[in-house]
Amino acid sequence: MLTTKQVSWIKGAVFALALLPLARMVYLTVTGQLVDPLEFITRGTGDWTLYFLSMVLAVTPLRRLSGWNWLVRLRRMLGLYVFFYGFLHFMTFLWFDHFFDFREMWKDVLKRPFITVGFIAFVLLIPLAVTSTNGMIKRLGGKQWQWLHRLVYVIAPLAILHFWWMKAGKHNFAQPILFGGILGSLLLARVYWWLKK
Ligand code: HEM
Repeated sequence: MLTTKQVSWIKGAVFALALLPLARMVYLTVTGQLVDPLEFITRGTGDWTLYFLSMVLAVTPLRRLSGWNWLVRLRRMLGLYVFFYGFLHFMTFLWFDHFFDFREMWKDVLKRPFITVGFIAFVLLIPLAVTSTNGMIKRLGGKQWQWLHRLVYVIAPLAILHFWWMKAGKHNFAQPILFGGILGSLLLARVYWWLKK
């Protein structure tokens, strides 16, 4: 059993570590080490959105299997990092692909199905991020908050579909299959425990 202080240390370390991918992207860009910074940043932020989504969904199964209840104290922060990297990913697209021309962005979102799906996943992340504060949890009430946060069951498949569709153009399915398997098992574990209850 960890003390409150130890958990605070772990939280601080996870917070700092989670910023490293961004620091690396910024460093490689400003030092001119990238052949195609736009592609690197779009893909890097997309990858990390997916990694944090996998981590946040792994909290409950890991906690149940290991009995490490303190893991739940990392969940909100990990969830906010899903939104943070998702936001950067979207901003890269809006900024570098469309130079903040919203009309052009909309055209692209509607024209390319893999972007449509990614966009929906990102929009669905917004209410989860907005309602992550203690005040909002209180205002909504635990039950309603929990229902709202079940949106993650929609977001995760959309994220995989977005990834799959993007890679389909290159006939490269290894990573989408891997992440589809990971997210699918994490979601199924929750459904299994829920049905058992
Ligand atoms: C939950 C939301 C999202 C997740 C988890 C996600 C995840 C990803 C992943 C994993 C990649 C592939 C990276 C790689 O090749 O290694 C990617 C690529 C991409 N995503 Fe997203 N994405 C999301 C939302 C969005 C949104 C909102 C947009 C734009 C409106 C978007 C536009 C793109 C584009 C343009 C690419 C790069 C395609 C290319 O390089 O050919 N994504 N995304």
